[in-house]
Amino acid sequence: MENLGQYRRTHYCGEVTEQFANQTVTVMGWVNRVRKLGQLIFVTLRDHTGLVQIAFDENTAADLFEKATGLKSEYVVAIEGNVALRREKDINADMATGKIEIMAGRLVVLSVSDVPPFQIGDENVSDSLRLKYRYLDLRRAALQQNLRIRHAAALSARNFLSGQGFAEVETPILTNSSPEGARDYLVPSRVNPGRFYALPQSPQILKQILMVGGFDKYFQIAKCLRDEDLRADRQPEFTQIDIEQSFVDQEDVLAMTEGLVARMFADAAGVDLPTPFPRMTHKEAMTRFGSDKPDLRFGMELVDISAVVAGSEFAVFQGALDAGGSVRGINAKGCGKLGRKQIDNLIEYVKTYRAKGLAWIQISDTGEIKTTISKFFDEAKLAEIIAALDGQNGDLLLICADKDEIVFDALGNLRCEIARRENLIPQGVYKPLWVVEFPLLIWDEDDDRYYANHHPFTAPMDEDFDLLETAPAKARSKQHDLVMNGYEAGGGSIRIHRQDMQQKMFEVLGYSQEQAYEKFAHLMDALKFGAPPHGGIALGLDRLAMLLCGTGDIRDVIAFPKQQNGSCPMTGAPNSVFAEQLEELKISIKAE
Ligand code: AMO
Ligand code: AMP
Repeated sequence: MENLGQYRRTHYCGEVTEQFANQTVTVMGWVNRVRKLGQLIFVTLRDHTGLVQIAFDENTAADLFEKATGLKSEYVVAIEGNVALRREKDINADMATGKIEIMAGRLVVLSVSDVPPFQIGDENVSDSLRLKYRYLDLRRAALQQNLRIRHAAALSARNFLSGQGFAEVETPILTNSSPEGARDYLVPSRVNPGRFYALPQSPQILKQILMVGGFDKYFQIAKCLRDEDLRADRQPEFTQIDIEQSFVDQEDVLAMTEGLVARMFADAAGVDLPTPFPRMTHKEAMTRFGSDKPDLRFGMELVDISAVVAGSEFAVFQGALDAGGSVRGINAKGCGKLGRKQIDNLIEYVKTYRAKGLAWIQISDTGEIKTTISKFFDEAKLAEIIAALDGQNGDLLLICADKDEIVFDALGNLRCEIARRENLIPQGVYKPLWVVEFPLLIWDEDDDRYYANHHPFTAPMDEDFDLLETAPAKARSKQHDLVMNGYEAGGGSIRIHRQDMQQKMFEVLGYSQEQAYEKFAHLMDALKFGAPPHGGIALGLDRLAMLLCGTGDIRDVIAFPKQQNGSCPMTGAPNSVFAEQLEELKISIKAE
């Protein structure tokens, strides 16, 4: 192994194109592949910009050729050489540098490598192995590109917000609970035995207090920590572009955010997002798409057929209607060809969303009808149901009866699942949407109490404030969610800035005055000392990066993500700790 010495890189691998023909260049990087063909050795060298081919020729440089025979995958080398145009038949059109190769003149081996546990870029490697050797997987072109797109998006956000007069202010990581609906991660305090910090689920309360502190326009690219189950779009540790403004109403927040998001998409992906973004009330989103984060890239909207099927003998439908529920369906256009097994598969799928089943009507290309509900509906009624769902030859109509909540959840997810399976989702298309007028509260049957739909600091709509006394479940809030392609990309609201109203909200949520103070004394106090009207939003940077990179896996846009059980195979976190550390913290572990 040698040292860099006087060598300096003149070009990145991916930059050495035909324009450098006949020039001497020095490239540095990792050996991607070595091929020996008689008296020639070809090495493809990799850095984050791409690959370039280097040739060692035994006839012109025997010593160098000999040295190159020792090269293996993932060795780190510096190579100086002359750029030569390849012969026409040797051109590799799949490579940006495929028209040239570098005829090696010097080779410096800077670092050697064990045989790697997998080949860089090999798709057939288990997730846990990739995460254990994350530094090897990070050499993959896709991950290199994703993290750079993420960087461009974050930089764009910083530039945009600074330009609009926002100041980035850091809030502490060692703090106390800021409720966003997940469990807190706790950190024990050595100097205050038996006491714990909570890691922030978001900077929500502190950013509101910054408004009371006169900051007017705040933002922060903030780490948030939530002890909740992981999903493809959820990590326990993630990043928000967190924003708050004083003296604004919802329109101001939406307009500012549209400018920001459009700028991020333009800067990081060259995508033009027309503004203003469309809007939909929560109610409309649920009734049309069965979801508060509808994917607008395809149709297959839900249709309420309760009125059409009411009064039938079919116990499943009538039972749901009698219980105050509904019967709704979707038309999976062109899916009339699906076999019995595939339909059964869809029925199993909706059961994971608590639906008890699905009724279906299949219309063949020639108009023959197969259905599970022929026993209960005569031909005329069946025709009415088909007409209500706009059934044409070749369609599959899927119907669900239950409580609204379950029907929406089942059909809303089924709609997306069918679109995925049948490739109905256009790629490279972005459909942003504001969802507004959310219910302020959600009733929890098990706990027999209301929870805030967003968080307890979100203001009710002015016209619904009195409902807090009379019919809290009906009150709508000043929440706004930014939805894109079926993801919740951001969420925020106009906040309660009056202490008495915040007090009232806590009452509705079942907190006594003492309990509210116990948990949120700092906010409750701050609201007494001249709090300006304020509101904001937090955008999920990881989720936006996923959209910008076109991946459905949040781990593809995070350098060191956690795996399913919250652990990191590379660092081994979470780890057990030394007995002395626990002793210092006055913590004892209960034996399992
Ligand atoms: P909320 O909880 O809706 O609001 O979070 C805002 C946005 O953060 C992203 N997000 C996540 N991304 C990855 N992994 C997670 N576990 C995760 N959880 C949330 C989503 C989401 O839309 N304080 C409020 C914001 C406000 O009111 O201003 C808040 O945190 O994209
Ligand atoms: P059953 O009465 O259980 O034999 O069901 C008759 C038909 O109704 C079957 O095709 C079931 O798949 C369907 N079905 C069952 N539960 C539901 C439901 N909740 N909504 C719509 N259809 C259902």
